[in-house]
Amino acid sequence: MTADNKPIIIALDFPSAAPALELAERLDPDRCRLKVGKELFTRAGPAVVEQLQSKGFEVFLDLKFHDIPHTTAAACSAAAELGVWMVNVHASGGRRMMEAAREAIDAGRHRPLLIAVTVLTSMSADELTEIGLFTDPADQVMRLARLAHQSGLDGLVCSAQEAAKLRDEFGAGFKLVTPGVRPAGADSGDQRRIMTPEQALQAGASYLVIGRPITQATDPVAAFEHIQQQIAVSR
Ligand code: C5P
Repeated sequence: MTADNKPIIIALDFPSAAPALELAERLDPDRCRLKVGKELFTRAGPAVVEQLQSKGFEVFLDLKFHDIPHTTAAACSAAAELGVWMVNVHASGGRRMMEAAREAIDAGRHRPLLIAVTVLTSMSADELTEIGLFTDPADQVMRLARLAHQSGLDGLVCSAQEAAKLRDEFGAGFKLVTPGVRPAGADSGDQRRIMTPEQALQAGASYLVIGRPITQATDPVAAFEHIQQQIAVSR
């Protein structure tokens, strides 16, 4: 088991700051972390990240940067200066881009964890072929995972199905952040290859990104507590 004592990252996929801050008000920063993604950040900007942090939360800024090395590095520096706990880039941006991101973060005063997305879990083999990648998605994940590891990144976003293999190859220190997790009996929504939180942690996940099973629940705090209890029992 490689998770720390706060393995759950709640995805605040809301269209404005108000519901995100309302939910944060009801949560305990000693028991979970929060993820701000493209929708909330594009609508509410750095201010919402600062407000969540001022409530004591560690924030994963999930903007999946993918650009020329100089621009990606500058974006990572900006995220670090915002004080976030974790930031991510697309591994398909290549070695030089990831190394530039690594250097930018290491040069700063505050050093968030820097992780990479390999292949978006929404991509099928046919869709990879359509963009000129004549390879099995699992092979492409491993290729990009190795490149991210060699480029000095701290870990990966990956599906829980990939976690065991990646944990074997990269060892205990490498962070594996897995979305697409669903508590037993929950609606899978548009997520496909899902695992329960306990299964994902047993497979080697360090952190679990959980959105709608908590944010769309009638009682989000009770939903969080229920998942937390399931994890505690399995540990
Ligand atoms: O609501 P749900 O639990 O499906 O939310 C999962 C979160 O993880 C969303 O914010 C989504 O953008 C993110 N994510 C994902 N699959 C990936 C990478 C990120 O679902 N491969």
